[in-house]
Amino acid sequence: MTVKHYLQFKDLTLAEYEYVFARTSWIKDRFKRYVPYHPLADRTLAMIFEKNSTRTRLSFEAGMHQLGGAAIYLNTRDTQLGRGEPVEDAAQVISRMVDVVMIRTFEQDIIERFAGNSRVPVINGLTNEYHPCQIMADIFTYIEQRGSIKGKTVAWIGDSNNMCNTWLQAAEIFDFNVHVSTPPGYEVEPERAGLYGTDHYEEFADPMEAARGADLVTTDVWTSMGFEAENEERRKAFEDWQVDADMMRIAKPDSLFMHCLPAHRGEEVSADVIDGTHSVVWDEAENRLHTQKALMEYLMLGKITP
Ligand code: CP
Ligand code: NVA
Repeated sequence: MTVKHYLQFKDLTLAEYEYVFARTSWIKDRFKRYVPYHPLADRTLAMIFEKNSTRTRLSFEAGMHQLGGAAIYLNTRDTQLGRGEPVEDAAQVISRMVDVVMIRTFEQDIIERFAGNSRVPVINGLTNEYHPCQIMADIFTYIEQRGSIKGKTVAWIGDSNNMCNTWLQAAEIFDFNVHVSTPPGYEVEPERAGLYGTDHYEEFADPMEAARGADLVTTDVWTSMGFEAENEERRKAFEDWQVDADMMRIAKPDSLFMHCLPAHRGEEVSADVIDGTHSVVWDEAENRLHTQKALMEYLMLGKITP
């Protein structure tokens, strides 16, 4: 039997996302009504973190408990991974002891090698290249608030990082458009983003033009984890790429603002935007929990009829 992994956004088809989102709504509704649901009783999730996390750890750990299973937190510092044990060997061992693995690491190649040696599903909890669990939650949040995202315009303002790459993959699957504006030198690299073509995004030199008429405006930190040495240089390069009230005014009147968090108010977003009426950042964060529970259920149990 082939094992199904979730290493980048395009690992699921549109039909699979539609199924996972329907399960997300069902699971979320029961959770809100305090109705227990334990389809993963006796199953164990191993979570391997090579970078910091609040939301990803909490949503996976709490989610696994809520589904009746257990979660184990591992990090580089305390495991043999930090002392150079090959990732292939770690995958062989860890995947004989647990039922699903979530990894947050550096290069995508690391998680690909882990998955290639794993007997159980592996989930990408963020790599330098991608953050699929976050975009899954973001699109679920958009649909919850505004209906279908097909044909809509998402403005991406800032760094062409793991979040941006994943939005671009999602645009191909959900058939929406991304208007990207990055400072010179930080443009999208289509191959690194894992794109099939360039039909679903357009690049804008002026961030205001990218935001014009957008249904959703979104951004992320100027310096991602692992790139801290570039912090000062990036702070200068990105200073005109802040999402502020003027930018939200040029977007559609009912546009949403999203940020995966953690955010730096006064850098990539002004406080009045992230704390203002367009912002759905807390719903986005909460939906990490519900969407990932549905994802784990799907990867481990396949399609089920409740
Ligand atoms: N958005 C997100 O992945 O947050 P954490 O880094 O806190 O997990
Ligand atoms: N782009 C950010 C996302 C953090 C959740 C980073 O990789 O640090």
